[in-house]
Amino acid sequence: MNAQASSPGWEKMRVISRDDARLFQRIPDHISFVEAAALQLVYWTAYYSLFELARLKKGESVLIHAAAGGVGQAAIVLSQLIGAEIFVTVGTAEKKHFLMETYDIREDRIFSSRDLSFAKGVMRLTNQRGVDVVLNSLSGEALRQSWELMAPSGRFIEIGRRDIDLNRRLEMSVFTRGATFSSVAVVLKDNRDMVGRILREIMDLAREKKISPAKPLNLFPYSKMEVAKHIGKIILEPHDDDVVPALPPMKMPQYFDENASYLISGGLGGLARSMVRWMVDKNLKNVILCSRSGSNSDKGKAMAKELRHRGVNAAIYACDVSNASELAAVLEDCAQKMPPIKGCIQAAMVLRDSTFENMSYADFKEPLRSKVPGIWNLHSMLPDSLDFFVILSSSSGINGTRGQANYAAGNTFQDAVAHHRVSQGPHAIAIDLGSVLSVGYVAEGGNAEIDNNLSAWGFMGIREEEFLAIIEYLVTGIENPALMRAKGLEKPYYFKDPFFSHLQIANRDENSSALGGDDQETRTDCPDHCRSTLSEVSR
Ligand SMILES: NC(=O)c1ccc[n+]([C@@H]2O[C@H](COP(=O)([O-])OP(=O)(O)OC[C@H]3O[C@@H](n4cnc5c(N)ncnc54)[C@H](OP(=O)(O)O)[C@@H]3O)[C@@H](O)[C@H]2O)c1
Repeated sequence: MNAQASSPGWEKMRVISRDDARLFQRIPDHISFVEAAALQLVYWTAYYSLFELARLKKGESVLIHAAAGGVGQAAIVLSQLIGAEIFVTVGTAEKKHFLMETYDIREDRIFSSRDLSFAKGVMRLTNQRGVDVVLNSLSGEALRQSWELMAPSGRFIEIGRRDIDLNRRLEMSVFTRGATFSSVAVVLKDNRDMVGRILREIMDLAREKKISPAKPLNLFPYSKMEVAKHIGKIILEPHDDDVVPALPPMKMPQYFDENASYLISGGLGGLARSMVRWMVDKNLKNVILCSRSGSNSDKGKAMAKELRHRGVNAAIYACDVSNASELAAVLEDCAQKMPPIKGCIQAAMVLRDSTFENMSYADFKEPLRSKVPGIWNLHSMLPDSLDFFVILSSSSGINGTRGQANYAAGNTFQDAVAHHRVSQGPHAIAIDLGSVLSVGYVAEGGNAEIDNNLSAWGFMGIREEEFLAIIEYLVTGIENPALMRAKGLEKPYYFKDPFFSHLQIANRDENSSALGGDDQETRTDCPDHCRSTLSEVSR
C-alpha cells in the first residue's frame, strides 16, 4: 500500500517508517509519491491555519502573504474551495503572473511583498474595513501593517517565525476590534488526533481531486538542493550516487591569537581566574598574570598548575601594577620570553570599606592604588595597538555605595581613563559591574557586609555565565547575528531578548523580498549605517 505519514518524526529520514497509525493515510491512486510528498505538509499548514485556527468562511476575505510559495498556493486553493475573497502578496512580477495564470487571481488583488503598499491597497479594496483573515509569513513592519489590517473579529495567523524568535512586540490596540492572533507553532506530538484528522481531510480532498500539489514541482536530487531557486515546492529525491553536502561540526570560536600574549592585572583574583579559564576555552595560549602575591601564593601555584595542565604558557608575576618600575620590569621580561601582548584586562582591586568620617587616609588611598596609578601605568606602558583594553570597574562609581567612597573614586578614575584612551585612538572600555554571583570577591565571601548592602540596595547579581558573556562582547567586539554566523559562532541566548532585536537587522539582496516570507531567502546583516556605531560601541 502506498501511504504517507504526518509524523512528528518527519524530519528524520527513514526507508521504513514506523509511527502512530492515526498519522498515516493511504495515497490516492492518481497521486504519485512525488506529488504526495509535495502535498502533505503545505496543505496541512494551510488547512490548519485557515480552517482550524481562522475558521475561514464563505464570503470572508483573506490576505495570503508570500502566496507563490508552497503554503501560499495551498492557502489559495483552500480559500477558493470555500469561496473566500482572496488578496495576495508576492515577491516578483514572475510570481504575480504565475498566480494570475494558474489560480485566476485578479491582478488588482496581487500586491508586492517587497514594500508596504499592500496595506493601503487592501484597505482601499475593502472600503477601509480590512480583511477577516491574514495568513502571514512576513516580518517586521510588514507584520505590524498586516496586523493593522484586521477587520472586526479578524483572525491573524502567523506562520513565519522571525518576529516570534526575536520576541518582538505587537500593537495591543488591534485587540479592541476583537481580533485574535494565533501562531501555527503546534506541538505535533501532543495533538496526534488533530494532526491525523487534518491529514485525513486533506487526503479526502485530494481523492476527490479538489486539491493538487503546489506548482511547479521542483524535483531535486539531494546533491543539488543547495542551488534551488524556485517557485512552488521542492521535493528531494534520493539517488544512490548522490553526494550529500554535509556541514562540518561547528568549531569552537577562537578569539585569542596563539602567537600573542594577553595580560591580566589582578590576574589571580576571582573574576580573573574565571576569565582565564574561559579564555583558554577560546584558544588562549599565552597569558601574563600580575598580582602582588604572584606565583608563590596558593592561588598562584594552583593557577600555574592548572594552566600548565591545559597546555597554556603562563607567566605569573608578583607585580604591583601601581608601581611603574615593577610593571616596566615585567613588561621587559615578557618582551624576552613571551609573544607580543595583544590584549589587556584590568581586574585588580583592593577594598578598605568604612564610612567616610571613619576612613583613615591610608584606607582611602589603598583601593586607589590599583585603580589610579595602576590603570594609568597599564594605559601608558602597553602598546596602543592592543586588540582590547578592558577595565573591570564598578557601579559603585555611578551609584555611590555606602562605605566605599575610596573604591568608588578609583572606579570613576578607571572609567575616565577608558574615555581618555578611546579619545586618543586606541581601544578601551570600562565596564561598571554590579555584583557577580558565584565567582569573584563578593561570591568568595570577601566581605559579608558588602553582600548584605548590595542585597539591601536592590542590586541583583549577575551569574558567571552572564559576566563571561559581557567579557566576550568586550574582547571580541559587539557582533550582529550575520557576523556571528560568518564566523561560525552560535548566537548567544540573550539575543532573544527584544532589547537586542535591533542587532538582528534583516538585510536583503536583490532576489529577496524586503519583508521576509517563505518565498524568498532572508539573511541578517549589519547595514552600513549601523556598522560604524557598533564598532564605536564595541571598542
Ligand atoms: N566581584 C564582583 O562582584 C565585582 C563587582 C563589581 C566590580 N568588580 C571589579 O572586578 C574586578 C575583579 O574583582 P574580583 O572579584 O575578581 O576581585 P578579587 O577576587 O579581590 O581580585 C582582585 C585581585 O587584584 C589583585 N590586586 C590588588 N591590588 C593589586 C595591584 N596593585 N597590582 C596587582 N594586582 C593587584 C589581588 O591580588 P594580590 O592581593 O595578590 O595583589 C586580587 O587577586 C575588580 O576591578 C573589581 O572592582 C567586581
